[in-house]
Formats: sequence, structure tokens, C-alpha cells
Amino acid sequence: MQTKTRKLDHIRITVDSDVEHPGKITLLEHVELVHRALPETALSSIDTSIEFLGKQLSMPLMVTGMTGGHPVAARINCVIARAAARLGIAIGVGSQRAAIEDPSLEYTFRVARDCAREEGGDVVLVANLGAAQLVAGYGVEHVRRAIEMIDADAVAIHVNAAQEAFQPEGDVDFRNAIDLVAEVARELDKPVIVKETGHGLGYEVVYVLRGRGIRFFDVSGAGGTSWVRVEYFRARIRGLQGLAEAAKTFSSWGIPTAQAVVETRWAAPDSCIIASGGVRTGLDAAKAIALGADIAGLALPVIRAYTVGDLDGVIGLLERIGMEFKAALFLTGASSLAEARRLPLIVSPELESRLQARGVKLDLYLNGARLL
Ligand code: FNR
Repeated sequence: MQTKTRKLDHIRITVDSDVEHPGKITLLEHVELVHRALPETALSSIDTSIEFLGKQLSMPLMVTGMTGGHPVAARINCVIARAAARLGIAIGVGSQRAAIEDPSLEYTFRVARDCAREEGGDVVLVANLGAAQLVAGYGVEHVRRAIEMIDADAVAIHVNAAQEAFQPEGDVDFRNAIDLVAEVARELDKPVIVKETGHGLGYEVVYVLRGRGIRFFDVSGAGGTSWVRVEYFRARIRGLQGLAEAAKTFSSWGIPTAQAVVETRWAAPDSCIIASGGVRTGLDAAKAIALGADIAGLALPVIRAYTVGDLDGVIGLLERIGMEFKAALFLTGASSLAEARRLPLIVSPELESRLQARGVKLDLYLNGARLL
């Protein structure tokens, strides 16, 4: 099946069906920020700005890569870019493989840069290709093309083995992927972000990647969009009963987002971490940052907001998240993101014991790696 058609299927299913991990949560629910009755700060003086990829964001938020490769997707990328430019947040485009295969589709990605510029914004824009494409023969020149196509500030190399495993046409060869990602990162003059797609980065992978020079990670953990569940719906629509059953078994596969943030920071304390996967509110974002992330990211709610309310819908959603984020900082007495990273946290025994099982000592983490 053509990449272009598959992408449209994905958009339809994610918008119309219940594609979030059934029975698995981000575990941000298991992290509590402590209320401060007298915050000793003014809501209006809270500074949520942060430097990311050499540019200034008004708050630590990113709409992570979703789409491109189809006229419908071009419109979505343009709207998200306009919203991001107005609000001062970062964005990514979806996999640019379709445009590498067929350059007539380049405009469906480039609109993200062009529309942001029309709004007068110099947004942080992240290009996107899959690690599986590197294994299949893409080299640094293809990645460079993806970056140049949209004048990107960085490139996300997505890793989506769980999704690929449940596609009849899936790219299920990830041999040497770490070497190939490291080689691309070494040769490029723009940062490489290694990005999961909803099933979570864990300690082992991040540790090895850090040793190979990678310093940017988008954990994209379990608890939000499950790409195995998306493939379950696709298999059902196509009458592939066996595949659908197998995908159903793995619909909640993965490392929950809160756990993934801690494992990633523990493995790569000096890295820049994007916490995504099931981030749905500004309070989720604040918890993720207090737990050790630098930026919070989200995807599914944005495409749904677009479908319902176009540009106003996307802006409304992102403004609400910004308001909640500021409120969370205000109510914990944090005046800046640096202070948010030092907030006291109550972590549930369940999350603590999961982390312990993964070799993370919570008190050492909270008082050590988290603060770096
Ligand atoms: C995605 N995601 C994604 N990621 C990626 O690296 N390349 C891609 O092409 C896509 N495509 C895509 C399409 C759509 C419609 C959605 C909703 C998502 C994954 C996305 O960036 C994110 O990692 C996950 O969806 C988890 O975040 P949410 O959706 O739970 O906020």
C-alpha cells in the first residue's frame, strides 16, 4: 500500500476511533505536585519561557510530528504551524518518507515552515524520518533532504517497532538501527532527536544511544495513542482477522510516559527530554517537567481539535494547556521552569516499585539526576 494512502487511513482512524492504550495509563496520575497555600509568587510573573534548539519558546510545549504526504495533511500542518507561531511553541511534521519517495509531495511538509512565517513566527520545527528507513537504505543525504525541505531546526528519527510489527506491510528489520542513527547524528550539523511513537523509550536503549552521542530524546510513552491499537483497527477494516487479534493482544504494550521520563533521565542525565504520550493537560505537562523532562509534547488532542474547530480549535486547546501549566506552577510556588524541576513530588508506591524494578532508586533520582 502507498505511504500516502496509509497516512490518510491513520488520520481517519486516530480521529474517529478509541486509539488510546486500553487499560494502561501514563502514570503521571501517580505523581502529585504538592499544593502551596501561600505561593509567594504572582501568576503574572511566572516565567515559562525556555530555549529549545537555539530558539525561544514561550512555554515548554511541542506538538509532536503527525502528518504530511497528502493535501489533507498539508492543511493540517499549516494550521498547526500557525497556532504554534502565534503561541510560541515547537512543532514537528510527520514522517517525510512520502516526500522523499515522491518530491511532488514536499509542499505538504514545507507548508509548516511557510505558514509559520506568514504568521511572523520563527517556530522551532522538527523534521521526521523513521529508523526503519535508515535500515532499509536511507542515508545521511536523505535525512539532510528532509531537514532542508522544511528548513528544520532538528530531525526526529522515529522508532516504531511495535506499530510495524502489526502492519502487513510493516518494516520489521531494525538490525544495526543504533549504528545507523548514530552515524547520521555524527554527520549532520543539526541535532537528532530519537523519538518513540507511543510505546516508550526505556533505560537500555537510551543508555546505548547516549553512549553513541545522542542527546535529544522524545520518550513518547504508553498511556496516550497506541499505534498497535491503530493497526488493530486497520486490520479489522481490511478483514485481516488474525492480525487484528494479534494487535489486540499488544494494544497496551509499552513503557508508561512517567516511567519513561525517569528511565531516560536516569540513563542520560545530560540530555534534553521531551515527555510525550498521553499528555492531555497542562497539569500533565507540569508533572512531566517536575519529574525531569525539559519539554512536554502531544499529538492526538491536536489533530482532534483541528477536526472539530480548525485553527481556533487548535489555538483554544493549546491556550487551555498553557493556562493549566501556569496554574500548576503558581499553585506549587514555582516562578520558573528551573524551580519546577526542583519541586517536591509525591510518587505512588506503584510507580516507585516499577522504577525500583528497573534499577532506579527514586530518592537518588529525585535529588540527583532529575536536577541536572
Ligand atoms: C503520530 N505520531 C507520529 N510520530 C512520528 O514520529 N512520525 C509520524 O509520522 C507520526 N504520525 C502520527 C500521526 C497521527 C495522526 C498521530 C496522532 C500521531 C506519533 C506522535 O508524534 C506521538 O508520539 C504519539 O501519538 C503519542 O502522543 P499522543 O498522541 O498520546 O499525544
